[in-house]
Formats: sequence, C-alpha cells, structure tokens
Amino acid sequence: MTEGRALMQMWSGEDGSRGGSGAVQAAAPAGGAIKPLPPDALIIIPMRNSVLFPGVMSPLTVGRASSVASAQEAVKSELRVGFLLQRDPQKTDVIASDLYWVGTAGRIVRYITGQEGAHHLVVQGEVRFRVLDFLSGWPYLVARVVIVEQPSAGGPEIEARFLQLKELAVEAIGLLPHVPDELAGVVRGIEAPAVLADIVANLIDAKNEDKQDVLETFDLVKRLDKVIALLSARLEVLKLSKEIGEKTRAKFDERQREHVLREQLRQIQKELGEGDEQAAEVEDLKNAIQSAGMPQEVLKHAERELKRLQRVGEGGAEYAMLRTYLEWLTELPWQAAPQQAIDLGEARRVLDEDHFGLDKVKRRILEYLAVRKLNPDGRSPILCFVGPPGVGKTSLGQSIARATGRVFQRVALGGVHDEAEIRGHRRTYIGALPGNIIQAMRRAGTTNAVMMLDEIDKTGAGGFHGDPSSALLEVLDPEQNHRFRDNYLAVDFDLSRVMFICTANVLDTIAGPLRDRMEIIQLPGYTEEEKIQIARRYLVKRQLDASGVRPEQANLTDAALAAIVREYTREAGVRNLEREIGSTLRFVAMRIAEGNAQQVTVDVSDLPAILGPGRFENEVALRTSTPGVATGLAWTPVGGDILFIEASKVPGSGRLILTGQLGEVMKESAQAALTLARTWTGDALKEVDIHVHVPAGATPKDGPSAGVAIFLALVSLLTDRPVRADVAMTGEISLRGLVLPIGGVKEKTLAALRAGIRTVMLPRRNEKDLEDVPAEARQKLQFVLLDRVEDAVRFAIGEVAPAHAPEAS
Ligand SMILES: Nc1ncnc2c1ncn2[C@@H]1O[C@H](COP(=O)(O)OP(=O)(O)OP(=O)(O)O)[C@@H](O)[C@H]1O
Ligand SMILES: [Mg+2]
Repeated sequence: MTEGRALMQMWSGEDGSRGGSGAVQAAAPAGGAIKPLPPDALIIIPMRNSVLFPGVMSPLTVGRASSVASAQEAVKSELRVGFLLQRDPQKTDVIASDLYWVGTAGRIVRYITGQEGAHHLVVQGEVRFRVLDFLSGWPYLVARVVIVEQPSAGGPEIEARFLQLKELAVEAIGLLPHVPDELAGVVRGIEAPAVLADIVANLIDAKNEDKQDVLETFDLVKRLDKVIALLSARLEVLKLSKEIGEKTRAKFDERQREHVLREQLRQIQKELGEGDEQAAEVEDLKNAIQSAGMPQEVLKHAERELKRLQRVGEGGAEYAMLRTYLEWLTELPWQAAPQQAIDLGEARRVLDEDHFGLDKVKRRILEYLAVRKLNPDGRSPILCFVGPPGVGKTSLGQSIARATGRVFQRVALGGVHDEAEIRGHRRTYIGALPGNIIQAMRRAGTTNAVMMLDEIDKTGAGGFHGDPSSALLEVLDPEQNHRFRDNYLAVDFDLSRVMFICTANVLDTIAGPLRDRMEIIQLPGYTEEEKIQIARRYLVKRQLDASGVRPEQANLTDAALAAIVREYTREAGVRNLEREIGSTLRFVAMRIAEGNAQQVTVDVSDLPAILGPGRFENEVALRTSTPGVATGLAWTPVGGDILFIEASKVPGSGRLILTGQLGEVMKESAQAALTLARTWTGDALKEVDIHVHVPAGATPKDGPSAGVAIFLALVSLLTDRPVRADVAMTGEISLRGLVLPIGGVKEKTLAALRAGIRTVMLPRRNEKDLEDVPAEARQKLQFVLLDRVEDAVRFAIGEVAPAHAPEAS
C-alpha cells in the first residue's frame, strides 16, 4: 500500500478551490454530546467533483457546515470517513438519493483551517464500501455500510491485463506535460494489480462518472479492462494532442472538452484507418447496389442517392433517411429469378395432399398452371377465390405456392382504406415506408413468389386518402404492373413475374374494374359428408398435434364426428368444426394427463359433456311446429343460411307490421305476399293486425327471394295449419301468384342440407342452377319446383282451397 501513499494528487478540493495556507491542526474542536455510531456505520463526506480511490492520498477542501462537522468529528474520534461522489456537483444540501452508494472509506491525515472559513483536508483512501442505508440523528450524513474487501486474486487473466495497463500507464506518463519524472518509476514499482488499476483510474483525466464506474466495478478483471479502455482512449488523445500542439492542454469546460475529444477521435480514427463507420457503411451500400441486379435506370438513381449520402455526412436526419432508402433499394429482388418449370403431376399431388375434394377448383388451378407452363411470360389471369370463411381460400393459395416451388407471401387487405398503405408514402414524410406490396416483395426476396392479396373485398372505398382499389388495379393489371410505382421507392418495380391470387368473401364489394381483371373461382362451402372427410383426413390430425395427444390415444367415432358437424356447427367452411374438434381432443388430453386413461373413446353420447348441448339440433322442427312459421333460405356472404319467417295476428285494424332485418325490397315483398294471401284465403282480417318478423341474418338486398316463405307463413297463419318442418323454400312472388327466379341456389341448397332439411322448394326457372349443386347434396335432397304459389301451399301445408284463385297470367 505504500506506493499509493506516495502519490499526491493536485489540489482538487470539494469546492474546486485551491488549498490555501493555514495552520496544520492535530485535531478538531470538541463537539457536544453526540450519540456514538453503530459499529458498521461511517460518517459520510459528500464530494462535489472528485472520486477518491483506495490507495490514493488526496487533498480535499470542505466548506459546507455539515461536511466541516463530519470532518471534525472524524478527526476528534479518529474514525474512518466514507467519501461518496454526488451526482450533481452543484447541489449543496445533499440527501441519500443525491449520492452514489459506492465510495471509498479512508482517514483524514491532515486537517488545516484556511482563510475565509475553508477547511483543507488531506485524506488517505483505504477501502471500497457500499452503503446499506442512511441513518438519521446526527448533524452530518451517516450511513451503515459493508466494506468491499479486494479479493487477492491472481491468475493469467489478471496478470496479462496488469502488464498491459502498466505499459500503457508508463507511456501516458511520458506524454503528460508537467508530471514529475518519479511517477513513472513509482508506477513501474507497483506490484498489486488492484492498486495499479485504482491509481491509474485516479490519475486519468476522465469524467467523474467514468471514474465512479471504475470504483463500482468490484470484479478485478472487469475493472482492469475498464481502466485499460479509459487509458487507451486517453492515450490516443494524448498522442494526437502532442501533434496538434498546445491547444488540448488548455482547460476546457465539459462541452468544449467533449467537442475537442470527438474531433480528436475522428482524426485518430482516420489516421488509424479504422473505425470509420460511415466509410464502411457507404462501402457496403456501394457493393450492395452493384450486386443487387438493378435495371440500368434504377442503378443510376441509386448511385446518385449514394453520392448524396456521402455528401450529407453522418449524424444528420437526412443521412439516416437516405441510408434506409438505399437499404430498401438494395434488398428488393430486381432480377427475375429463374422460373422453375411447373410439374403438373407434382402440382396435382400437392393440391390433393393439402385439400380434400374441391375437384372443380383444383382442376381450374391446374389449367391455370398448365397455361403458365406453356407460356411462362404470357399474361395469365389473376385468380380470385371467392367463398365463405373457412372454406380453404387462403390455404389453397399456400398450396399453390408449394406446388409450384414458389415463396408464399400474404398481404392482408382487410381494412385498408388508404392508398398509401398499398403504394407507400413519399420519402419526404417523416418515417415514410414503402407500401405493403413492396414490403411483401422484400420479405419474399424473389420474384418467384405467390402473393396472396387476402380479403380484397374488404378494402375500404376510396376517400380522402385516395382509392386503394385504383392502386390495386395497377398491381394486378398486366399492362401496368411491370412498372409498378411505389411512392417511397419512386422508381419502377417490375411485378409482372409475381403470381397474384386474391381472396374474397363476396364479389359485390370489389370495384368493377378490379373484378374484371380477375378470374373468379367460387368455393361454395362443403356438404356434411365432405366436412366429415376433411375432418377425418386433415383436421383431426392437426388438432391431435396441437393437443399433444397421440393418434392411438384418442378414438373419435364416426358418429361423434358426424354429430359435431351436424349439431355443433352450422357453417359453410370448416373453421368452427376444427375448433370443436380441438376442444374435444383437449378434453381427451386432460383425461390422459390426469392418468385416468390410456385411451379415450369419444362417442355421440359423450359430446354434451364435452361441448355442451348441441346448438343446432332440431331447431327447424321446434320452430315450425306452430302455424305461421315458414323456413326460408337466404343467401349470405358466409355461404347461405336458413331463416325462420314468423307471422302472427294481434288485435288491430288490418295493418301489416313488419319487424326484423328488412330492406325496402323485402317490405314490398311482404306487402305483396299479404295481399296475395288474403285474396287467396278470403280472410277479410278487419279486426287484426298481421305482424311479420324476419330475423337477422338475411341481407336486406336479398328481400324478394323470401316472397314464397312470407306467403306460406301467412297462409299457414290464416288457415291455422303448420308448414311442414322438413321443407325450406326460396322464391320471389308476383301479385298474381307466379313464382319468380332468385340467385344463390347452390349456397341456399347447401345451407338447407346443413340444417337438416329434406326438401327444398324453388322456382322452376332456377332448375338449371341445380347443376351447380354438388351431386352428393342433390342426392340427399328432394326438390320441388314451383311455377305458382299454389304448388308451394299444396306441398308444404296441404290442400287448401283458395277462396278466389288468382287469375293465371
Ligand atoms: N378441402 C379442405 N381440405 C382440407 N382442409 C381444408 C379444406 N378446406 C379448408 N380447410 C382447412 O380449413 C382451415 C380454414 O381455411 P382457410 O383459412 O384457408 O379459410 P379461408 O377460406 O381463407 O377463410 P377466410 O375467408 O375466413 O379467410 C384451414 O386450416 C384449411 O387448411
Ligand atoms: Mg383466409
């Protein structure tokens, strides 16, 4: 430790003033009756602008009354004092939170009262400590502490650093002006690495925070590293300032100092030819630009922007913006990737592997691929899968990508209102980015991609921010998409090699011009039988994986699966079905995990306990058991549904009351049905109002097709005879009793089947549409083709003699 004692810092007192002359006193004036300190407590003296290290002797000037009191008490009682750096040197009345909690404990070896009430101390740092807590009750700061003993560690890790530090220190001393020559000798003579680290840290012209950091680093290896780093940085500066001349030797305030240091650092880095981040970055970008395969025009543009980047220099906002921009440019797939020849056999295999059924759809996809194979550069139509949720639109897209060896990228268009989301913002906007098409291209990293524009029917209509569909038109139009212009990129990008596939639930919200560019492929939804097959082959397997149950542990019977399809779901797709299967298998997983069973069989009778009561069981039978209710069929975007039209009589004066989901068209339809029914049954209806309720679920637009159902509900009400429960109907009516054709036969038919209906009544003029209904559904249903409303009454209610048969027209 003696080495440390030999080192005396320049006066750098607590108040920053130079120590003055004064008498050296052996002890301080006596104090009053102050309570003794606990054994693990230290009197604390806060330091404004210096860090005391163990092994270092240092002068200190105290001015604050509390500091003077502590110093005097310490001298009087011959106690150790704890020296702590304060965070803000300006602060006079410090409390615990103003101080760093690691400091050096030491002794006051001299106490000198100077002029003007300043007290000068010479203190000897001894050992690190950490504050546990501050105590109150003394006229100065007192804290309970733990002493941090320096571990007497050795080993090559420390030894190597020790030697390096010593060398650096000697070198630094040689460069320092006004340093006594003996110092180098003293440093050379130090034998303890810990002591060397502290002494060098003390001597370095570094910020107090850095010194405090060294003080707080208890691990010797890390501490040596930090001191070496500080000293190396300082050394660079010292070397340089020797060249630069006198300038750096003057005293700077903190800001000037930092500026100069930065300047010096830059020069040093330049001279060392390393660490010039900007140059390296520019170099990287340059290489990336050259190797990105950009078209000539874009390449020139990129090179110009790179020059600009070099000009603006690091640090500015423009630099960052340009760099990001160039990164975008370089990371896009400019070169047409070699197209893998399409193997139709393989494509068929993949499509079959991923999806059950959908024969027509798969055939159409294969045709599309065949055309592409024969004419890879020709313009192929854009496929658009349209259908209810969960019928496999998105997953078919993924399958096509897999079948053709392309990368799949999905761009979600649902809720996109702003053209800029598709086409990007101009670079002048802060935080501007390319639109989602270019973003997807960057993610894909190749033009050999299938890009799925998902939910294209859900893009918002154009408004204040421009029309997204006009931007989409540019993306999808083969005439334009080889020069697609994103606002951010501001150069043309060729999208013509990307295979675009769109999906939508409905067609009518897609802008006309956009729809014209696409080849629509309808996915109408699945029959019960198809769903069971899909479940068996795909969904159960996937959910087994998800629930961690091994196939042999779960036995889901065919009957149970069919019951899940029939009684727990009523949808066109298979999404809820998959969810219910998931719930069932999680139940199985629980039973097995609890150790109750090795294998669990789930049959129909177990379902209520697992999934609750069947939701759609017998609904039709229940609802239609009373007169005045007819089962209609509605077309909905989610694949058709049944709806119950209910008519009832209430005392009144012959009015028609309509409630529920009704559009204008449907109101007219209901009025027509009532007029017709009244003439038909001969009921005068003077003292009653008729109330017709159409539940939610039907689209108001779809009004007319409920004509037959409303009519039958009314006839049933007026004749007090129920409509057959297993019959559902659709059709428009004329005032003269003709049944007129409607749309959506396929969806409506499948919905009827799902609801357990046996017979569907529909306009004869829709007979040709039955071809579109899957054969399996056709086999299971009976179809009654209607020319006139009487046909419907006869079949669904029974013979009712009309009072006045409306004239045939
Ligand atoms: N024919 C099928 N064979 C096997 N799995 C199918 C079939 N049809 C749908 N699926 C599965 O059903 C799930 C739902 O399909 P997907 O997500 O593609 O529906 P979607 O039509 O895109 O619906 P949305 O309109 O809601 O986006 C997927 O896991 C898909 O693999
Ligand atoms: Mg989807």
